Amino acid sequence: MDLLRHGPHRVSPTAHYTGYVWARHGLGDERLATREGAVLYHGLRPAMALSGALGGVRLEDFLLARHGVLDHLLDAAIEAGEIGSVIEIAAGMSPRGKRFAERYGKRITYVETDLPAMIARKRLALGPLPDGHRVEELDALAPGGLERLASTLDRERGLAVVSEGLLNYLPAAEVAGLWQSVAVAMEEGFPQGLLLSDIHLEGENAGPVESAFAAALGVFVRGRIHFHFQRAEEAENALRTAGFAHATLHAPRAFADAVPGADRAGAQKVRIVEARLR
Ligand SMILES: C[S@@+](CC[C@H](N)C(=O)[O-])C[C@H]1O[C@@H](n2cnc3c(N)ncnc32)[C@H](O)[C@@H]1O
Repeated sequence: MDLLRHGPHRVSPTAHYTGYVWARHGLGDERLATREGAVLYHGLRPAMALSGALGGVRLEDFLLARHGVLDHLLDAAIEAGEIGSVIEIAAGMSPRGKRFAERYGKRITYVETDLPAMIARKRLALGPLPDGHRVEELDALAPGGLERLASTLDRERGLAVVSEGLLNYLPAAEVAGLWQSVAVAMEEGFPQGLLLSDIHLEGENAGPVESAFAAALGVFVRGRIHFHFQRAEEAENALRTAGFAHATLHAPRAFADAVPGADRAGAQKVRIVEARLR
């Protein structure tokens, strides 16, 4: 099936899958739910139902929790006046950029980025965009790429960098390099820098159900799922080493009052990174 490709495109099927999940749960634009997403979603339903029945851990629970908590933290930072520009890396078919661009209008610039094939697909799906909502090619691992993009943004206001569903597909050295290049880009004159991401810790995904689940995801993208850190403190230290002054890995349940479903069992398999440059 040409949907499941090797090389740099190996994680793109999951972007179609999650794009379909977001649309199905009313989180955004129907145009971002692709035919590939529908085929994968319905094809994987029996396996997902089985893993849910075995361990009470449902993929959609952690997907929705991570999406909701990331939205919540980004909203809070924009509302607080801390952030004027957002770069979302590996945005896939996520509706977040469209939602935030509509919600905040001229108050923010939102730049969604991904690899070229995904960006072409997204531009086609979204059609003409308003000022302040950009959809651009960016290989997040290419040296200097983030810095160049950040240099096009307003240095009078803070910069947020968001990634969702990317880190556990990357080996540890690439995650460390990515965090460092995000910090370097933010240091180029922005009054504040905020990094928001999701990440799975080995210590919280080590049981037999979780291992089977990670293996299934690995097959699904024909690649390995990487766990880089056993515990939250190790990741927080690595973020400080990369250049962030403050770093916290939140458990979704901490946001149960604000984000529906954040206290479900599946939601506890993921952590949300909130790191600040200053
Ligand atoms: C699992 S999907 C997540 C998509 C979206 N963030 C979401 O949560 O729905 C991973 C995305 O990472 C993108 N990607 C993979 N390697 C990348 C890289 N080096 N630079 C930028 N994007 C990349 C893929 O094209 C894909 O869209």
